Amino acid sequence: MDAFRISGGFPLSGEVRVNGAKNAALPQMAASLLTDRPVTLHEAPRLSDLDNMARLLGELGVETRWSDASTDQANRGGTLHLCAIDETKSHARYDIVRTMRASICVLGPLLARRGEARVSMPGGCVIGDRPIDLHLRGLRALGAEITLDAGDIVARAPKTATGERRLRGARVFMGGAFGSTVLGTANLMSAATLARGETVIECAACEPEIADLAALLKTMGARITGAGAPRIIIEGVDSLTGVDHTVIPDRIEAGTLLAAIGATNGDAVLRNCPYDAMAGQIDRFEEAGLQVELSGPAPDMLRASVRVRRRTGAITPARITTQPHPGFPTDVQAQAMAMLALGKGISVVTEKIFPERFLHVAELSRMGASLFRQGPTVVVNGVDHLVGAPVMASDIRASAGLVVAGLAAKGETTVRRVYHLDRGYESLERCLRAMGARIERIRGEAVVDDLAEPAARAATMVGDAIKSEHVGAGAI
Ligand code: EPZ
Repeated sequence: MDAFRISGGFPLSGEVRVNGAKNAALPQMAASLLTDRPVTLHEAPRLSDLDNMARLLGELGVETRWSDASTDQANRGGTLHLCAIDETKSHARYDIVRTMRASICVLGPLLARRGEARVSMPGGCVIGDRPIDLHLRGLRALGAEITLDAGDIVARAPKTATGERRLRGARVFMGGAFGSTVLGTANLMSAATLARGETVIECAACEPEIADLAALLKTMGARITGAGAPRIIIEGVDSLTGVDHTVIPDRIEAGTLLAAIGATNGDAVLRNCPYDAMAGQIDRFEEAGLQVELSGPAPDMLRASVRVRRRTGAITPARITTQPHPGFPTDVQAQAMAMLALGKGISVVTEKIFPERFLHVAELSRMGASLFRQGPTVVVNGVDHLVGAPVMASDIRASAGLVVAGLAAKGETTVRRVYHLDRGYESLERCLRAMGARIERIRGEAVVDDLAEPAARAATMVGDAIKSEHVGAGAI
C-alpha cells in the first residue's frame, strides 16, 4: 500500500488546473445504461472509483475505453467512452458494489431501460451507515416492485397493458433526516427520464453535480426542468440517444486546494475552478482569513481562474457547519479543520450530514492539533504549529485533511494507505509538487504498514486520555 512522504512548511504557489468532478462523472457513467448509443465524457478524472464503475458497467454489458484528451501540463483527466452493447445483463454483484458505494447509482438507469435490476446493497463505510431508504422510496413511487434477497436489491418495473416493463411518473418527496440525497436524486432523475408520464421530485438534492447530470441527460433527449433546485420535473420519453459531454470541475478538489493554500500561507491560482458552485465554501474560508477572488475574466463562472491567499497573514477562527448544497460541503470538512487547527483562536466545526465523519480528528491530534469532540461538533483550539508524524488515511476526505496538515506541519509526515486518496484525487502528489510542495509517493513495498486502523487508534487515544486525565494539545 502506497504512502505519501511530506516535508512540511513550504507555501503553495504558482497555478494548478482543477480536475473534473468524481461525483459528477460517476452518475454520468451510470447514465450510459439509459441508451444503446455512445456516451463520451471529456475531462473525466482518472480515479480508482471510475475504474471500479467501469468494471461494474462492464459486467452490465457496457464497453468502456479511455483516450487521452487532456493536453494540460498537469496531464490530468481524460476522455471516457462508454457504450452499452449487451442489454441482457442486470446484476451488479456484491464484490464490486462493496468497493464503492456509488455503485448504487446504476439501479435507477438499469430499472428504467431494462425493466429489472439486481444490485447488491452497498453497505456502510467509515463515515456512516449510508442507508438507501430514500432511493428505494423514490423508485417504488415510480411503480418499481422492490424486494431484498440475500443482501441484494431485486427490482422490477411494473408491466404495462402491452406487457412491457416500464416505470410510471409520480410525485416523490426525497427528504430524509439529513436533508436530501445526492445519489438518490441522481437515481430517481435518471430513472424518470424513461418513465411513462411526469415525475416531480420534491426536496431534490441541489448539488452542482445533479445539475451537470441533468445537462448530460437533456443532451441525450431527456425533458428535465429545475435541476439544481429543490423541485425537479421530468417528462418521460420513450428513448434517449448518445451524448458528448464535458464533466463539471470538481468543487471538492478545489476546496481541498483552498485549505492547503491557506494552511501553508501560500498564494496560488486555481484554473478551471467552479467558483460559481463554491459560495458556501468561500464564505467560510473568507471568515477564516483567506482571500478568494477571480483572477481575470470569467466567461464561464464554473471554469474560472481564482487567486487564493491569506488576507492578513493569519488564519482566523471560523464556525463551520456542513449542510446540503449550497451550504458548506461535508466533503471539505476534514480539510478545513486541518487548516483551522493553525488558527489564531477557537473554531467550531459541526458535521450535519455524516455526524460520525471524524476519523481525521485522532490523526490530526497526533500532529499536535488541539481538538475536542462532543458528538457532531469539534472545538478546534488553534495551535502555533503542527508537527509532522506518521498518520493513517481512512477515507477519501479525511486523508486529504491529513495531507493538508502535513503540508503545513514542521518536519516530515508520512500518510499511509493513500489508496483512499487515489479514489478521489488524481495524482494529488504531482498536482501539489507543481505548486511547490515537498511531497513524494512511496510505493507499497517500501512502506512498513504496522499501524492500527485509525478507528482503533482513536478509541485507544480516548482511553489513554481518560486514564491519564490528560486534556491538552493532542487530546480529543
Ligand atoms: C454523495 O454521497 C457523495 N458521493 C459524497 O461524497 C457526499 O459526501 C454526499 O453525497 C453528501 O454530499 C458521490 O456523489 C459519489 P447522500 P451520497 O445520499 O449520495 C442520508 C466523497 O468523499 N441518506 O446525499 O451517498 C445519508 O446517510 C463522497 O466524494 C439517508 O438517510 O450521500 C447522509 O446522512 C463521500 N437515506 C445524508 O442522507 C438515503 O436513502 C446525505 O447522503 C440516502 C442518504
